[in-house]
Amino acid sequence: MNGLSTSITGRAMNKGLLSVEAINIRDFSHDKHQSVDDYPYGGGAGMVMQAAPVVESYEYICQKTKKKPRCIYLSPQGKTFHQRMAEEFSKEEDLVFLCGHYEGVDERALEMIVTDEVSIGDYVLTGGELPAMVMIDAISRLLPGVLNNEESAVTESFGLDGLLEYPQYSRPEDFRGRKVPEVLMSGHHANIAKWRKEQAIFRTKEKRPDLYEKYLLNNRTKT
Ligand code: ADE
Repeated sequence: MNGLSTSITGRAMNKGLLSVEAINIRDFSHDKHQSVDDYPYGGGAGMVMQAAPVVESYEYICQKTKKKPRCIYLSPQGKTFHQRMAEEFSKEEDLVFLCGHYEGVDERALEMIVTDEVSIGDYVLTGGELPAMVMIDAISRLLPGVLNNEESAVTESFGLDGLLEYPQYSRPEDFRGRKVPEVLMSGHHANIAKWRKEQAIFRTKEKRPDLYEKYLLNNRTKT
């Protein structure tokens, strides 16, 4: 899981707040070539990951953790990953990510061990590793101590009433003729907060009308 050893997830691992271990399903192969896939019954293109190495890998994890952790199968057929799922998964002590490769995984293995099937979007990738890393990143940053105060103080998109983040500016005041909005320099905290909320609403309406509709529904009674 190389991609996770840098930046914030890397720091979290060094601090012992998070640990990620890759299990090689090939280590649970039943033959001398370490193969874990075979032709599909009924014919057709591609190979299928066999049930035994997949289930045995999971059983090995269960033995090690003395638990039956939730097992997330990454697949374009799963429920689309979103922030609320990340929040739910962040409450689990252990998680298993089953990354398919070839054409698919023997259905019996999926029936036996998978608790959640998750997609990271409507496109097909070559394997589940990148989606697993995307999920691990989103989940890790919700764990206590992973973000420092400054990082977590940032008002997040989807955090505040399900709205997108308002625009941010830093020095200089004038960049190639583009000026920082006046209100941000006023020092008037109530006006700044009002402006940011308006911007967040405006942006959400423009960029994500789907989220804006939800926001309107949720706030109908309040406005
Ligand atoms: N495996 C291949 N494509 C995928 C996707 N979009 N999401 C999750 N897992 C996948």
